[in-house]
Amino acid sequence: CLYVSPYEKGHVNRTSRSFCPVCPVFLPSHVCLSLHLSLYPTVTSVRLIQSIWSPLSADCSHCTHGGDFNHFPDDPEFADIIQRAEHAIENGVFPERISQGSSGSYFVKDPKGKIIGVFKPKSEEPYGHLNPKWTKYFHKLCCPCCFGRGCLLPNQGYLSEAAASLVDSKLGLGVVPKTKVVYLASETFHYSAIDRAKSRGKKYALEKVPKVGRRFHRVGLPPKVGSFQLFVEGYREADYWLRRFEAEPLPENIRKQLQSQFERLVVLDYVIRNTDRGNDNWLIKYENLDSCIKIAAIDNGLAFPFKHPDEWRAYPFHWAWLPQAKVAFSQETRDLVLSRLSDMNFVQDLCEDLYEMFKTDKGFDKTMFERQMSVMRGQVLNLTQALKDGKSPIQLVQMPRVVVERSRSGGQGRVVTLGNAFTQTFHCKRPFFSSW
Ligand SMILES: Nc1ncnc2c1ncn2[C@@H]1O[C@H](COP(=O)(O)OP(=O)(O)OP(=O)(O)O)[C@@H](O)[C@H]1O
Ligand SMILES: [Mg+2]
Repeated sequence: CLYVSPYEKGHVNRTSRSFCPVCPVFLPSHVCLSLHLSLYPTVTSVRLIQSIWSPLSADCSHCTHGGDFNHFPDDPEFADIIQRAEHAIENGVFPERISQGSSGSYFVKDPKGKIIGVFKPKSEEPYGHLNPKWTKYFHKLCCPCCFGRGCLLPNQGYLSEAAASLVDSKLGLGVVPKTKVVYLASETFHYSAIDRAKSRGKKYALEKVPKVGRRFHRVGLPPKVGSFQLFVEGYREADYWLRRFEAEPLPENIRKQLQSQFERLVVLDYVIRNTDRGNDNWLIKYENLDSCIKIAAIDNGLAFPFKHPDEWRAYPFHWAWLPQAKVAFSQETRDLVLSRLSDMNFVQDLCEDLYEMFKTDKGFDKTMFERQMSVMRGQVLNLTQALKDGKSPIQLVQMPRVVVERSRSGGQGRVVTLGNAFTQTFHCKRPFFSSW
């Protein structure tokens, strides 16, 4: 190893010394590995090192640059897709910015150019510091209170995307295309001029003066953290299909399937308190020949509020205006989710899994996370009641808003204590600009 300064700075545990698996130097192995990764940040070198030294872990808290690579030991299928995306980028098949939309979102391709995922980097979210759409930047500067959502933590959309997928899989809904937190670097992403200049300078130094160049932590552009959602094929925006179904009613068996899928979407949105479910943010796949209809809930980046939306900006669920919302939840949906939702251990488990995910964000704040979970528990409580009472989605969204906090606290509204651990608070005010 040419570069030992992090070790000299003493920010690692000096007792855990061993030989570096890649070069014959006696150093703490994770220091060497992190150095190798930072000196040779290509996917191939990461994999080579991983294969030589299995204890390499993404969450090594000692490494200053460790952790910004992809590691999905529990999900080889997803790991393989990310590997293909990385290979594509290495071979010049770069992610392509999705032209519509308010943030930097990218279609990610495999080496053959086929779209395999949608990547939304944290730094290019609507209020991220590298958002490529100047109008959003303008909004933020000139009129911050009129844009954005005051009930959401800013710049955590990528976590909301991945968390929605987690909720979907834990409840067995199967409507969110699998989404995880991923690190990717590509020259088609939006980088600051400084980042690009640094990267160019380092590459130049490495070519011209390899001795100096090898001292750099990282040579290429820095990987961006973001959400990576699997691309689903053959789907179109719900808006399109719903209009078509009005003109050409569906056969009964397909109508039932759609109803069942719709209820799963309602369950997801209600639990995560999605504030952005327009009919352009869910997709439908319907092919007459298949006799099968499927929903995909995409664009889940504006969910998990830390408080219920203010009365004057309600962010209603747009599906509540659809005829499907007037039908009581089916037995099938109740059988699918009721036993899980009404189990406090399940909900606690879900909160813990979300904690593991959210705490990785740079700006993580435990108090705000607890508030997010209080809103979610309130949503779960309402939903459980609605399912037990045989209510419809439209009746569900008319229920008074509830928060369920971990410990007793004096808030506005009616307070009911649930055992020793949780306090439930009802808010009886209805939003101004909504029929509910
Ligand atoms: N997982 C997916 N599978 C297939 N198509 C997708 C997927 N995710 C997004 N798309 C397509 O990309 C378009 C933009 O996606 P999305 O709405 O998530 O991006 P966005 O940048 O958040 O946009 P906006 O800010 O306008 O909501 C969608 O309308 C859809 O056509
Ligand atoms: Mg969208």
